[in-house]
Amino acid sequence: MSAKRTENSNGGFVLEAENVRKELRMGEVVVHALRGVSLAVRQGEFLGVVGPSGSGKSTLLGLIGGLDAPTAGRIAIDGVDITRMSEAQLTRVRNEKIGFVFQFFNLIPTLTALENVALPGQFARKQRTNPQRRARELLGMLGLADRLHHRPTQLSGGQQQRVAIARALVNQPPLLLCDEPTGNLDSEASDAVMKMLRQVQQEFNTTVIVVTHDMSVASEMDRLVTLVDGQIAGDIDPRSTAQQAALKILRDKRATGELAAHRP
Ligand SMILES: Nc1ncnc2c1ncn2[C@@H]1O[C@H](COP(=O)(O)OP(=O)(O)OP(=O)(O)O)[C@@H](O)[C@H]1O
Ligand SMILES: [Mg+2]
Repeated sequence: MSAKRTENSNGGFVLEAENVRKELRMGEVVVHALRGVSLAVRQGEFLGVVGPSGSGKSTLLGLIGGLDAPTAGRIAIDGVDITRMSEAQLTRVRNEKIGFVFQFFNLIPTLTALENVALPGQFARKQRTNPQRRARELLGMLGLADRLHHRPTQLSGGQQQRVAIARALVNQPPLLLCDEPTGNLDSEASDAVMKMLRQVQQEFNTTVIVVTHDMSVASEMDRLVTLVDGQIAGDIDPRSTAQQAALKILRDKRATGELAAHRP
C-alpha cells in the first residue's frame, strides 16, 4: 500500500486555523458559533475535540473541511489557504486532502461496500492507485475482506462505519475529520472503530481529528481540545498522569450520576 506520509510543505502543520470566527444567522438572531479559534495541528496527530452541545465542534470541523467558509479568520490545509477559495477549488481540496466520517455513516444504500469505498476515487484528479484495488486493500485492513459485496443494510453499524472510514481514505488524504464517529455504536463496535482509526494514523501517518462526547474515546486521544461557547477552553494531553487521574474522577462521577446531577 501507499508510503507513510512524512513532512509536508508547511513544516509539518497539516492544519492551521487562525482566529476563526463563524456567525450564523437564524432569522433576526445572529449566533456566534465560533469566537476566535486558533489551532495548529501537525501531520500524524491524533486529536480529539470535546465540549458541550452547541459549543461549535461541528461548525469547526465543517470549516476545517471546507464545507463552509468562516466569517473571519484564516484556515490553511497542508500549507494552502482555503479561506477565500472558489467552490471548484474547495471541491478539489476536499477530494484530495480531506476524508470525512460522520455519525450516521452516510453510505450509498444501493452500492456494495467495495463500490462505496471506491466511489470517491473515481473523482480524484491524479489517480495514484486503481480505486478498486485501493478500496479492496483498505477494506481488508479494516477487517472487512469478507464483506466486500455486502450492501450497507447487510452490515452492522460498526461494519458500516469501517466502510465509511475506508471510503474517507481512498484518496489518501493527509487529514481525516470524524464527527461523532462512535455516536451511533455500542461500546464494542466503538472500540473497534477507534482501534481502526489508531491503526490508520500509525500506518499512514494520517492526521485524525475526532469530535466526540464519549469520555472513553476522548481519553484515547493524544491531544484533546475543549471547546466552550465557541472558544478553545483547553488543549491538553489526556494521557499524562495528572490528566488521567482527572479523567478517572470524571468517569467515576459519571458512573455514579454525580456529574449529571451538577448539570444545569
Ligand atoms: N445552520 C445553522 N444556523 C444557525 N445556527 C446554527 C447552525 N448550525 C449550528 N448553529 C448554532 O451554532 C452553534 C454551534 O453548533 P454546532 O453544531 O457546531 O455545535 P456542536 O458543538 O457540534 O454541538 P453537538 O455536540 O450538539 O453536536 C449552536 O448554538 C447552534 O445552534
Ligand atoms: Mg455537532
